[in-house]
Amino acid sequence: MLEVKNVKRSFKSGDVTVNAVDDVSFKVPEGQFASIIGKSGSGKSTLLSLLGALDKPSSGSIEVDGKDIAKMHDHALISYRCQKIGFVFQSYNLVPNLTALENVILPMEFAGLGKKERLERGKKLLAQVGLTEDQMDRKPGKLSGGQQQRVSIARALANKPKVILADEPTGNLDSQTGKMVFDLLHDLARSENTTIITVTHDLSIAGKTDRTFQLIDGKLTEYKK
Ligand SMILES: Nc1ncnc2c1ncn2[C@@H]1O[C@H](COP(=O)(O)OP(=O)(O)O)[C@@H](O)[C@H]1O
Ligand SMILES: [Mg+2]
Repeated sequence: MLEVKNVKRSFKSGDVTVNAVDDVSFKVPEGQFASIIGKSGSGKSTLLSLLGALDKPSSGSIEVDGKDIAKMHDHALISYRCQKIGFVFQSYNLVPNLTALENVILPMEFAGLGKKERLERGKKLLAQVGLTEDQMDRKPGKLSGGQQQRVSIARALANKPKVILADEPTGNLDSQTGKMVFDLLHDLARSENTTIITVTHDLSIAGKTDRTFQLIDGKLTEYKK
C-alpha cells in the first residue's frame, strides 16, 4: 500500500515560488496499476521523484508499507530505493558499457545477492521480458529502443520491488512497441503483485490502467474516464 498525504513540493527561484506538487493526497493498494496524466510542467516527474525518494517533499507524508519515507534518513533511503522501488525512465537509462544482463544484475549486486543467484535471476527476468540469450549479452547500443526498455523493466524488477515507478515509459517508442511494453508492465503488475505507477501523455494507455489520476498545476484529482 502506498499512501500519500498532503504532499507539497515547491521550488523557489528568486521571488517566484512554483508549487510543483500542491497538497496531493492519494492511496494505491498493493498490485494496482495506476496512471498519472497531465500536461508538461504539471508536476508529474516531481511527484514520481518524491515517491521514489529521489527528492524530499516540502511537507506531507509518503507511506510505503506503513513507513514514512519523507522522514527517513539517508542510509534508510538508499536501502528503500534499492529494495522497494524499481524505476523505468523514458530514455531507458541503461549503463552503456555493460551488457543487458550486467545491467539487470547490477541492482542485485548492490542488494548483496550472491553471484550465482544474480546470474540465474537476471537471465530469468530477461527471458520473461522476451530477450533471447544472444540479446542478453549485447550492450544497449546494439539493441532496439523496445528491447532496451524491456531490459530496463527487467532491471526495475531485479530486487522484487513493492512499487515500480515509470516516467513516460513508452514516450520514445513507436505506438506498436509502446503497446507491447505497456502490456508487459501490466502482466508483471499482476503476476508479481507489484504496484505500478506510470506517468503518460497517452490517454489510450492511461485508459487501460486500473485507475487514472490527473495533475493540473500540481493538484491531483481522480480522472473519470
Ligand atoms: N529542480 C527544479 N527547480 C525548479 N523548478 C522545478 C524543478 N523541477 C521541476 N520544477 C518546476 O516544477 C514544475 C513541474 O515540473 P515537472 O514535475 O518536471 O513537470 P512534468 O513532469 O509534468 O512535465 C515546472 O514548473 C518545473 O519548471
Ligand atoms: Mg516530466
